[in-house]
Amino acid sequence: MKTVLVGMATCGISAGAEKVWNHLLKLVEEKNLWSEVKLEKTGCIGMCYKEPLVEVRHDDGSKTIYGEVDVEKAAKIFELDVLKGKTVEDLVVYDYGKKGEADLFSKQKRIVLRNCGIINPEDIDDYIDKGGYTALEKALFDYTPEQVIEEVTISGLRGRGGGGFPTGKKWMFTKMSPGEKKYVICNADEGDPGAFMDRSVLESDPHSVLEGMLICAYAVGAQEGYIYVRAEYPRAIERLKKAISDATERGYLGNNILKSSFNFSLKIKEGAGAFVCGEETALIASIEGKRGMPRVRPPFPAVSGLWGKPTNINNVETFANIPWIITNGALKFASMGTEKSKGTKVFALAGKIERSGLIEVPMGLTINEIIYDIAGGIKNGKKLKAVQMGGPSGGCIPAELCDTPIDYEEIVKTGAIMGSGGMIVMDEETCMVDVAKFFLSFTQKESCGKCTFCRIGTKRMLEILTRITEGRGEEEDIPKLYELAEKIKSASLCGLGQTAPNPVLTTLKYFLDEYKAHIYDKKCPAKVCPALVKYVIDPDKCIGCTICAKKCPVGAISGAPKKVHVIDSEKCISCGKCMEVCPKDAVYKE
Ligand SMILES: Cc1cc2nc3c(=O)[nH]c(=O)nc-3n(C[C@H](O)[C@H](O)[C@H](O)COP(=O)(O)O)c2cc1C
Repeated sequence: MKTVLVGMATCGISAGAEKVWNHLLKLVEEKNLWSEVKLEKTGCIGMCYKEPLVEVRHDDGSKTIYGEVDVEKAAKIFELDVLKGKTVEDLVVYDYGKKGEADLFSKQKRIVLRNCGIINPEDIDDYIDKGGYTALEKALFDYTPEQVIEEVTISGLRGRGGGGFPTGKKWMFTKMSPGEKKYVICNADEGDPGAFMDRSVLESDPHSVLEGMLICAYAVGAQEGYIYVRAEYPRAIERLKKAISDATERGYLGNNILKSSFNFSLKIKEGAGAFVCGEETALIASIEGKRGMPRVRPPFPAVSGLWGKPTNINNVETFANIPWIITNGALKFASMGTEKSKGTKVFALAGKIERSGLIEVPMGLTINEIIYDIAGGIKNGKKLKAVQMGGPSGGCIPAELCDTPIDYEEIVKTGAIMGSGGMIVMDEETCMVDVAKFFLSFTQKESCGKCTFCRIGTKRMLEILTRITEGRGEEEDIPKLYELAEKIKSASLCGLGQTAPNPVLTTLKYFLDEYKAHIYDKKCPAKVCPALVKYVIDPDKCIGCTICAKKCPVGAISGAPKKVHVIDSEKCISCGKCMEVCPKDAVYKE
């Protein structure tokens, strides 16, 4: 029997995997090959940049992954590899036997992503075949709740939702809180721009998260749980619903789980997609049907959470680590990583790199190793400028500090934070003032408005940044940005305001010259900010083809056919269309 898998997470589907799936289905049906070929859907293996992906597995254990597959290529793979066992060399992106793609996986260690892109996320038996739900069994029958917490504590696992709080300690607080009724919540809100780790795990291996939540519920003494997922993740929600229903049917969820006295039921709460609803107290308010706004802590949710009851909230990735820890032992987990940051971390790689996608690396690997050894370096041979880590609450780490290891404390020293794992790589053509403006405009829009400094202070900071990028910056703008940043950080109630100035502060710290060039010289060194960029035609290269003049939306280009053309900078709106269409690369930015 041969197995053909099609990557059907959101990344695959948006690249066209459904068409490939339907075509393969047609081929198997037409030739009535159901006894010979098993066609399966799978999640994301991480190579998002090569989607749609198709993997062919043969009985002898050989496996090949093909990338950028369309209907035509799918037919070729089917004809040659599936039916005749001949590898289609020119379409291979990863050959498990020979490796490939500069050993994309060789520096990775997959714990959270152990089943992603490998199993069918809609088939509970696939999860069970990979050892799924044995950790739950072990926890329920071999360990007391205290021993489970002890194990999680020894593992050194820290929350992967951004804060990095020790998971075992948090579980212990909930367990110790008095009260018969307790809750476990999985935070799958994932609001950071550029982050898609949690979505991928839910779409590719939902049972691993359910199993982690079940083990937590047993340990802390909870009977009910919620998974808070943003409604913009429909595929994750669909797969979670199926996973919950299948797990209930098999006796892993519900009453007397695995014939024990442990009862646990799970509901999904769909969030409307507000960034602040990822903050734990706002999330709880949202589940209770109230407006998602944070409240003062203490009391912490472990003491008074959902409907005033002790509640344990963890992130998707945190929960997905748990079954592995229980199965393989806390010491094995703790043997990976650095002194204070144990295990692995999942990152969503985006930006100017050759290979964007999802990776999982042992803590302690450096940012440079991720960029160059795993992500294949910077696109088009350009130079690395900075890496934005930790989303809008994080900061920009300059290229010269990219030898920093992946470790909570080491990353904080740079001014950024580990965050939930979004990593956006920027090259020399990125304007750092513009980047700061982008992240601040996000947090400014997402502020719930409860705290004055967060609501209005971020607005004032954004106004200043906008002025600077438009060439209207003033000498006192930089001290004003510092002053506002300090006040917003200290006077805000929740993490949104407390961290909103970070992208501005880190860019000011490492790229002050760029701010100064915008303010004093009215220049954007990266040639990004439209108001500070002038488009010019090189008379030696222009052939007078007239294409640029025809395409200019504001009629700013003049010149007769076969004569050198000229751009009127008074009329030019710096849209860049002329540069894009010029067949001779005669247009340049000044
Ligand atoms: C504005 C804001 C947004 C947040 N968004 C998320 C999120 O999307 N997902 C998440 O797991 N944690 C998010 N957090 C962190 C949570 O409040 C909480 O610390 C986390 O869910 C705890 O889980 P952990 O201990 O497993 O990390 C956010 C925090 C703040 C302040």
